[in-house]
Amino acid sequence: FGGGGFGSNSSTSNTEAAPMVNWGIIRANKEINEKKKWEGLPPIEKNFYIESQSVKNMYPDEVNEFRKTNNNITVTDLCTEGSRNIPNPCRTFEEAFEHYPAILDTIYNQKFTKPSPIQAQAWPVLLQGLDLIGIAQTGTGKTLAFLLPAFIHIDNQPIPREERGGPNVLVLSPTRELALQIETEVKKFDYKGIKSVCVYGGGNRREQIKVVTNGVEIIVATPGRLNDLVMNGIVNVKSVTYLILDEADRMLDMGFEPEIKKILLDIRPDRQTVMTSATWPEGVRRLGAQYLKDPIQVFVGSLDLAAVHSVHQRVELVDDDDKKDRLLQFIQEEFLPTDKVIVFVGKKLMCDHLSSDLSLLGVDCQCIHGDREQCDREAALEDFKSGATRILIATDVASRGLDVKDITYVFNYDFPRHMEEYVHRVGRTGRAGRTGTSITLMTRMDWRNAAHLIEILVEAMQEVPEFLEDMAQRWEANQRKRAEERESLKGMGGGRGGGGRGGGGRGGRGRRREDFGVYTPAYGIA
Ligand SMILES: Nc1ncnc2c1ncn2[C@@H]1O[C@H](COP(=O)(O)OP(=O)(O)OP(=O)(O)O)[C@@H](O)[C@H]1O
Ligand SMILES: [Mg+2]
Repeated sequence: FGGGGFGSNSSTSNTEAAPMVNWGIIRANKEINEKKKWEGLPPIEKNFYIESQSVKNMYPDEVNEFRKTNNNITVTDLCTEGSRNIPNPCRTFEEAFEHYPAILDTIYNQKFTKPSPIQAQAWPVLLQGLDLIGIAQTGTGKTLAFLLPAFIHIDNQPIPREERGGPNVLVLSPTRELALQIETEVKKFDYKGIKSVCVYGGGNRREQIKVVTNGVEIIVATPGRLNDLVMNGIVNVKSVTYLILDEADRMLDMGFEPEIKKILLDIRPDRQTVMTSATWPEGVRRLGAQYLKDPIQVFVGSLDLAAVHSVHQRVELVDDDDKKDRLLQFIQEEFLPTDKVIVFVGKKLMCDHLSSDLSLLGVDCQCIHGDREQCDREAALEDFKSGATRILIATDVASRGLDVKDITYVFNYDFPRHMEEYVHRVGRTGRAGRTGTSITLMTRMDWRNAAHLIEILVEAMQEVPEFLEDMAQRWEANQRKRAEERESLKGMGGGRGGGGRGGGGRGGRGRRREDFGVYTPAYGIA
């Protein structure tokens, strides 16, 4: 009966055996469908780099010396097959853009003196059309590192702009305020009439749709609203050939990854992809690789989690009940009328409470968190930027990417849930060559983070308070003790039933993961 290949029905069961799945055919069909999906797309151009003679002439020693003295740039080719030439860094704006005088003009307008280390190394990589993972300290110019090559990419595509059928460049950002800031940066450069739009939740949807349908070359978006517009057929991302995930580690965590996956289904696979952040934890590295093709990885500074060195980091031990007094004392005794501080708290409710408490005490402040109306969020940030208010209470919705030039203090009222967020929070000050101070309050409950914080302080040559050493040691001893207890329990219980699968065991497992401070990407921005 020809059914041999499907296995025989067992005599004891009258259920039909499931037909065997032919994975070979499924795979082949998938490839055919994929090919069909991308048929007929216009050609893209990705390599616009003409290496300047002076860059070409650099001796390998010179290259190494430049990388070492520019905050230790390390470049790794993550191509799995063969080896490629890693481009030499560009020491000046002219070395990077001598063939693009209009780009040089926009840079001169900004009065910058030289490229930052990430720019020096990222520009030649990106201008060659290669995928990039760019990790560099907070406030060191990653935005322009990916934006300037994006302008050149748009301007030099083989088909005319009006025939491209949609945007060429898509920048994805985890928060609305950061998306708005990046779009403002695009507009500030005003390069060759390139048009842009910011597509973000809480913003005027109808207005955003109007701008998109009138034609734009750059979309800066938060994933949720973009998906909404893509699914409703308003935005077509098939024309995107240059994709940026800013704050990439945050974008690849469990909160955003499904949205990103959905968006990327519709973006042509031969695009150029860029991921940037100041942190790149192990937990997301493999995930990131799925979306990039043979990327070059540029790290500036320490390969481990590290805070920017332009911030004086102070850490203090307090009781939970004394936090508010400590903040008030800081405002009364240390905070000058010319200072600006961003106060980070852990929860939205705390954000509201603290700002209304301070207001009642006559302290002028505003607050920003995910449950506020978008217009209030934007107004609070605007007042903070303009100096109308000098104290901003915020959740981690404000920890990433925001560039407010004159923030002099970061006050960590609540210790962050993840050390990555500590690095981003602290980096809201001490940006672009300026200096700043961070004050972090710790309670005894935060002891699991002590050792990791010490590493960060030591790396940045900061003072490590005695209580912190103490905390770290006690935590380590506690962990050892618990591990021993677990071992002895195992010995007593023997096999599987010995507690490991019991209710208690399960609870313990959940706790342990938290306690060890393992990077769990599921942290939410409140
Ligand atoms: N070459 C440069 N020289 C001086 N300032 C620069 C240069 N490039 C950029 N900047 C300025 O540095 C500031 C910080 O840049 P940007 O916001 O891009 O930092 P970032 O690396 O993205 O930081 P974060 O990790 O916090 O997002 C901006 O105000 C920007 O205008
Ligand atoms: Mg940034």
